[in-house]
Amino acid sequence: MQFELNGTTVHGTPEPRMLLCDFIRDSIGLTGTKVGCEQGACGACTVLLDGAPVRSCLLLAIQAEGHEVTTIEGLCAGPELSPLQRAFHQCHALQCGFCTAGFLVTLTALFRTNPHPTEFEISEAIAGHLCRCTGYAGILAAARHVAAAKD
Ligand code: FES
Ligand code: FES
Repeated sequence: MQFELNGTTVHGTPEPRMLLCDFIRDSIGLTGTKVGCEQGACGACTVLLDGAPVRSCLLLAIQAEGHEVTTIEGLCAGPELSPLQRAFHQCHALQCGFCTAGFLVTLTALFRTNPHPTEFEISEAIAGHLCRCTGYAGILAAARHVAAAKD
């Protein structure tokens, strides 16, 4: 199989039952994508599939065949953080960081389609993500900060 991962073509021969999150982490070696619940509930494993956020623990690796996958490692160009990543830093939107890649991937997708989401749209977008540390206040503040930025 082959697919585009963060703009690079990757090849592999995963077991048919291998999950996409495990292929990305264990076969490719990109460990920014985290695996928490492995049942679609926590959002830690979220990646973009053709631009849309998906749970990589609910997809088989072979289902990525021919598609474009973007992980947290592919969200910014080079060493420069994206505006959303900078806002997370400034607003103290993370503590242990386990959930952070998933939040950033989902919010990046939101801002690409809707650069100025409302508070409700931000909350709706991240409703499927669990964070056990922050109480969500910093995450919402970071998203609000980016939503309020001028184009
Ligand atoms: Fe995929 Fe929790 S590990 S949703
Ligand atoms: Fe620890 Fe969210 S920062 S789970």
